[in-house]
Amino acid sequence: MTYETHSEKETHELAARFAATLRGGELIELVGDLGSGKTTFVRGVAEALGCKVKVKSPTFTVMNEYPVDNDKIKKIVHADFYRFEDPAHLEALALGDYSDDDTVIFVEWPDIFGEGILTPTHTINFEFVDEITRKIEL
Ligand SMILES: Nc1ncnc2c1ncn2[C@@H]1O[C@H](COP(=O)(O)OP(=O)(O)O)[C@@H](O)[C@H]1O
Ligand SMILES: [Mg+2]
Repeated sequence: MTYETHSEKETHELAARFAATLRGGELIELVGDLGSGKTTFVRGVAEALGCKVKVKSPTFTVMNEYPVDNDKIKKIVHADFYRFEDPAHLEALALGDYSDDDTVIFVEWPDIFGEGILTPTHTINFEFVDEITRKIEL
């Protein structure tokens, strides 16, 4: 399904609906240009799952971990491969270690070091339409 949102708030609302479908153990790829709303979407999911901290782009850290207060899901991992300087970071990251039943992983720019590095359970596509409009394909 492709949705159109017209504000950060609407993207958060869509993210909250998506969050309600999560059971833990998902690996979600976020695909789309810079500014297309990927991080905003993760922030909406985290809020909906009861995270008390505001999700920020993993700029200096390679990835961020957020504890969340939810029956099934205890942790969100948010990685942004665009910020990786070196594919060796991928190994350091050892995403496999996070594939626990109570964790949900989000990865922005999953294909930057080549396709097929990850085995996602979901891929979400983001498209910049205009200043306030984003197309989000779930
Ligand atoms: N409908 C919308 N949904 C999400 N973000 C929006 C929307 N309209 C405008 N924006 C703005 O677009 C930017 C999206 O940034 P961000 O989520 O960090 O993108 P990405 O992680 O894809 O680079 C933010 O500045 C946000 O305020
Ligand atoms: Mg981002």
